[in-house]
Amino acid sequence: MSAFITLEGPEGSGKTTVLQQVAEKLATEYNIISTREPGGVNTGEQIRKILLEGEAMDERTEALLFAASRREHLVGKVIPALEENKVVLCDRYIDSSLAYQGYARGIGIEEVRSINEFAINGLYPDLTIYLDVSVEVGRNRIIKNLRQQNRLDQEDLAFHEKVVAGYHQLIKEDDNGRFVVIDADKNIDDVVNETYKSIIKYLKKL
Ligand code: TYD
Repeated sequence: MSAFITLEGPEGSGKTTVLQQVAEKLATEYNIISTREPGGVNTGEQIRKILLEGEAMDERTEALLFAASRREHLVGKVIPALEENKVVLCDRYIDSSLAYQGYARGIGIEEVRSINEFAINGLYPDLTIYLDVSVEVGRNRIIKNLRQQNRLDQEDLAFHEKVVAGYHQLIKEDDNGRFVVIDADKNIDDVVNETYKSIIKYLKKL
């Protein structure tokens, strides 16, 4: 039995912690791998380096590079794991590009979807968990983090609100019921439990 499950959410949703804890719980029952792009796949890592360390770039170039890195990770890591009948738990996937590049950067969700559909070639996730943090709680968590780094950039907060709005649009238009929305304003233990339960519920049906 294989399954491709993605976890999505804006900064401040607790995604990284939730993913780690849920992966540990699932590993007691399932043959799972937990990954994120570029996930150690060499060409994907090199593309990511340009994205993160290179100079500021055109937003369509940025979208194309995310899609290229996605393809390398998919082919190099996700597909082989699915072929070995594993449950793949992936931190961010196509929906991140749709929300961040498509909606928040303003390229347009459908424009970004078209290059990503080329990249994923039909391999949409079976299940996508969205950690739904309210703008207010997300903003407070981000401000707290930024204070720790001693910089507060108003633009980050406006961008954050757009990312949240972008995800909400994707969920509204989710025709095949791929998304499960988890209330991520709750404390982290509750979020971990609800995420775990949703994934188990899906896996038990397979
Ligand atoms: P990362 O440090 O992995 O952040 P997080 O812990 O929030 O996942 O950096 C990923 C950043 O890149 C994050 O701000 C989201 C953004 N991103 C995109 O803009 N488009 C994408 O397709 C992906 C995968 C990530």
